[in-house]
Amino acid sequence: MEILRTVEELRRWSRALRYSPCAEAGRRIGLVPTMGALHSGHISLIRAARAACSHVAVSIFVNPTQFGPKEDYARYPRSFEADCALAQAEDANVVFAPSIEEMYPSGAATFVEVEGLSEHLDGRFRPGHFRGVATVVAKLFIAAEADVAFFGQKDAAQVAVLRRMTADLRLSTEIVVCPIVRDADGLALSSRNSYLSAAERAQALTLSRAVRQVESLVAQGERRAARLIAAAQKIFAAEPAVRVEFIELADWSTLEPLETAAPGALFVVAAYVGSTRLIDNAILR
Ligand code: PAF
Repeated sequence: MEILRTVEELRRWSRALRYSPCAEAGRRIGLVPTMGALHSGHISLIRAARAACSHVAVSIFVNPTQFGPKEDYARYPRSFEADCALAQAEDANVVFAPSIEEMYPSGAATFVEVEGLSEHLDGRFRPGHFRGVATVVAKLFIAAEADVAFFGQKDAAQVAVLRRMTADLRLSTEIVVCPIVRDADGLALSSRNSYLSAAERAQALTLSRAVRQVESLVAQGERRAARLIAAAQKIFAAEPAVRVEFIELADWSTLEPLETAAPGALFVVAAYVGSTRLIDNAILR
């Protein structure tokens, strides 16, 4: 497995596979964008890429532009050596690990703004977050020229923003969404779970409990957003140490709030457990 540090190296790797006279027939380049601190959720993305693609690149870049000034950029977990070992064990072909200067050259003044969607859900509480995500993912897509990129459903609003971006910019990278990976007790895996104390880890289960309750009400025939949200609020009320940021039912394409749960609607919760912000969701069937 190669470790590439510059956009030029990544582009050369991808183009050699795509355009060289001895380029393999059936080659398909998969990209797994990450911020490192890889866990089983990321591994599931690499495995999905490995199963669908002949060549797999994993990017590891803690993207400063998607963090607000008071957010956890400085303390975000970084475990580069372990991440590379995991990527290698999953048979990735390259890890792309650029510097900040490589992704944002001095004087960089170009950003990708997905209007409308970026102001909903997480974007309402994290101004500029989706602008940072869309900008860095656009840069990665352009550099890697991948056929497919793999993202987790846990960041469902991010997926909606990136789908809109690829459609609007007519980028040719297809987006594949992989299911949320959970611990045995239901907690959705997140690199930020490492911030939780043992007590907070137990409190954090409130998010998945609320999501499960809503899924079960929908399975019983409840469709009214107000009722579903009220049921989730009741679950959170039983754990006052957890501070809800938002509980919403939204259209997964536009991220606009919904009053009724149609199939494919996104039910999403965001909450603080101590100082750690966690999210969870379900796509309602
Ligand atoms: O989901 C993430 O880890 C990040 O938002 C991403 C897509 C790698 C962009 O920095």
